[in-house]
Amino acid sequence: MSRRRQIYEGKAKILYEGPEPGTIIQYFKDDATAFNAQKKGTINGKGVINNRISEYVFTRLSHIGIPTHFIKRLNMREQLVRQVEIVPIEVVVRNVAAGSISKRLGIAEGEPLPHTLIEYYFKNDELGDPLIAEEHIACFGWASNEEMQDISAMAIRINDFMCGMFAAIGIRLVDFKLEFGRLWDGDYSRIILADEISPDGCRLWDMITGEKLDKDRFRRDLGGEEEAYQEVARRLGLLDTDNGPSEVLDLNAHRKLRGK
Ligand code: TMP
Ligand code: ASP
Repeated sequence: MSRRRQIYEGKAKILYEGPEPGTIIQYFKDDATAFNAQKKGTINGKGVINNRISEYVFTRLSHIGIPTHFIKRLNMREQLVRQVEIVPIEVVVRNVAAGSISKRLGIAEGEPLPHTLIEYYFKNDELGDPLIAEEHIACFGWASNEEMQDISAMAIRINDFMCGMFAAIGIRLVDFKLEFGRLWDGDYSRIILADEISPDGCRLWDMITGEKLDKDRFRRDLGGEEEAYQEVARRLGLLDTDNGPSEVLDLNAHRKLRGK
């Protein structure tokens, strides 16, 4: 039996060659890292939940016309996606001050921003993903001005949609990170949404209690990260018992068996 080829192993996912040219399999791990992998750990069941949440969000975004790399979920931890050339920029959208912007500029966490901010970080682990200006992007050829217009327009639409989607389930979308890729067709390429959208790369606060339902629980040693990720999935209707046993519920059964 031939083993499938691993293309890349990142901090939270492994990429394998897909069944057809131009496709990739994304495998979601339980590994969690923070502060450029200086802090390492695992969040049990995270991969299963993020696979499911990301499938859900990407599918909803495609329904409002956002082009994405997502093709289909294959199993509990894997999804089939289109192969793209990742633009080496992390696009962070902020609605409320938290995390690095609070630290850098001395703005209290939880302070709503006067308007939505888009920030760009150069995707480079060795440099610790430094904050960059839009001018650097064109200057160093990381993306063209036309591509950046598409990226910023999509980021704003994604934010508007996701703010509403999370507000409907009592969650405040504080900020999140997006990655985009070039989908090549002969000599031409277009920008599509890539990577994942999950509590790993979003700040999600309960609207009433302010409770953190995202990776900050791990980053800040707050505990309860498994429950927080599950709570997001539950509110999105992805753990819905009315729809019969789901694969995510199987995960719970597995955990119960282990006495956790
Ligand atoms: P920050 O406040 O640390 O800059 O993070 C902003 C958002 O981006 C937050 O929702 C977490 C997400 N993020 C990632 O997904 N990956 C990263 O490497 C970093 C630093 C942040
Ligand atoms: N994922 C990033 C890392 O390990 C940082 C983070 O999400 O806080 O470095």
